Amino acid sequence: MKILVISASPRKNKSQTLSLAHGVLKGCNPEDSEIIHLIDCKIEFCRHCERCHRKIMECPLKDSSVSIMKKMLEADGIILASPNYIDCITASMKALFDRSTHFIHCKRLLGKYIVGVVSSGSGYDIPVINYIKHYTFTCGAQFVGGISSKVLIDEEKKNMAVFLGEKLHRAIQEKKIYKSQMKIIEKGKQHFKQRIIERKDEWQGEYDYWKKQNWM
Ligand SMILES: Cc1cc2nc3c(=O)[nH]c(=O)nc-3n(C[C@H](O)[C@H](O)[C@H](O)COP(=O)(O)O)c2cc1C
Repeated sequence: MKILVISASPRKNKSQTLSLAHGVLKGCNPEDSEIIHLIDCKIEFCRHCERCHRKIMECPLKDSSVSIMKKMLEADGIILASPNYIDCITASMKALFDRSTHFIHCKRLLGKYIVGVVSSGSGYDIPVINYIKHYTFTCGAQFVGGISSKVLIDEEKKNMAVFLGEKLHRAIQEKKIYKSQMKIIEKGKQHFKQRIIERKDEWQGEYDYWKKQNWM
């Protein structure tokens, strides 16, 4: 079992959000894990050139995005950890999400499990957790749960993080299907099926991917 932690706090090892994510990782107890600090990565803004739709996993911007996305494809579970910045994920995480629209068109994270981790000054993080959940579904992954805490994080929250990690471990091991989530994912898939058909001459790489999956 491989877990990838994507940490969007610029404070690296001083990050409160990351400390909560460590709790999830501890509960999950994977054989293999990696933490990516987005602050150490170069992630340009998406230029909407659509190259990644024509040639999948290709981008003319030479930065960290494609390699992070490849790591996401190799992981069984992904912990998306972001501080709350004005009721949203941080800009670095949003920039990464924007660079991954191919994942959305082709539901590339199908079969994977995601956990959202947030911290803030207020503890009011529902919009942030919901956004991470929305990204999860739109890429085809299932959302095992989210945890958020105001700072400083207390023992109870730390224990809850461990519990969520255990849940993540079980979901991956049992290949859990959350039926209500799969309905949302399937609806999104049908939407993109139509878009891919309409634009098959432009988005050839993605059209070929859909064909290869026998989805059309
Ligand atoms: C630019 C910025 C925006 C923030 N916006 C909010 C906010 O809208 N609500 C809130 O409760 N805390 C907000 N905070 C506080 C952080 O979410 C909080 O300190 C968080 O725990 C930092 O996480 P980290 O230690 O993982 O970096 C903001 C902090 C910064 C720097």
